[in-house]
Amino acid sequence: MLTTGAARVAGVMGWPITHSLSPVLHGHWFRRHGIDGAYVPLAVRPDDAIAAIRMLPKLGFLGCNVTQPHKEAAFAAVDLRDAVAARMGVVNTVMVQSDGSLIGTSTDGAGFMANLREQAPDWRPEQGPAVLLGTGGAARAVAITLLDAGVLELRLVNRTVAKADALAADLRLIFQGRRIDAVGWQERSAALEGAGLLVQATSLGMKGQPNHDLQLDGLPLSAPVAELVYVPLETELTARARRRGHRIVDGLGMLLHQAVPGFAHWGGVTPTVDAEARQIVLEVLRSRR
Ligand code: ATR
Repeated sequence: MLTTGAARVAGVMGWPITHSLSPVLHGHWFRRHGIDGAYVPLAVRPDDAIAAIRMLPKLGFLGCNVTQPHKEAAFAAVDLRDAVAARMGVVNTVMVQSDGSLIGTSTDGAGFMANLREQAPDWRPEQGPAVLLGTGGAARAVAITLLDAGVLELRLVNRTVAKADALAADLRLIFQGRRIDAVGWQERSAALEGAGLLVQATSLGMKGQPNHDLQLDGLPLSAPVAELVYVPLETELTARARRRGHRIVDGLGMLLHQAVPGFAHWGGVTPTVDAEARQIVLEVLRSRR
């Protein structure tokens, strides 16, 4: 499918943006679905983000994805935030409406859950406490999504425990009656005792970063281990968990699934997260090593 002057145009905005895999994925979906479309990287400096987002309708864009450090700016720039974005406090997908107004949503949480359901279909929210490592933006989206799904107990583990305390206090206001505990870094291995799910949302294990020294002994084998890092695709932690017999949920699936709502808007069809899409993104990741 050629890109013509009539192409549907969208993109991904960030600073820096060169590492983004979104152009590969959305470009693939445009071709796969036979759509005349273009999805471009938008390298926008932090100070220019709000103005750039507001300019999207005037440039004929149908929308864009927004990555760091612009997710808060996107939240401020849009005319309307849907209920998910309002609760997450960030926007990662901006959709231009036919009247030129901008709707913002946040798809990280839904992407995480769709991937968890796909890669660990036997997991049930009520099977035990969920342990979440990290309290950054992605971790916050995961925490809200897990509680929404019906997780009754959440253990928030973070190196800086004050951040876990703050997130726990926030979440307790939204999800009254749930048990939400902040756990200090010293207790990170003990927190796994009897858990039903472990989610790794810190930058540990990422290429160039140190590995986790988490002891998995207390983690029941029925608990899936979900990793948000996807470079490398298998981290030292997930390799260890896999050897112990845990079901592993990798970070690439979340990246693919979180892209679906945006593409459905600018592509006009709901794209399929299939082996082909995964393979194409994986090949680009591998070629960068
Ligand atoms: P994002 O928004 O992408 O989730 P972030 O806000 O930079 O990223 O968060 C990174 C997470 O990794 C944080 O939870 C951070 O812990 P702190 O809040 O204590 O900084 C965690 N992290 C980064 N390096 C770490 C390390 N060496 N040991 C333990 N945790 C680390």
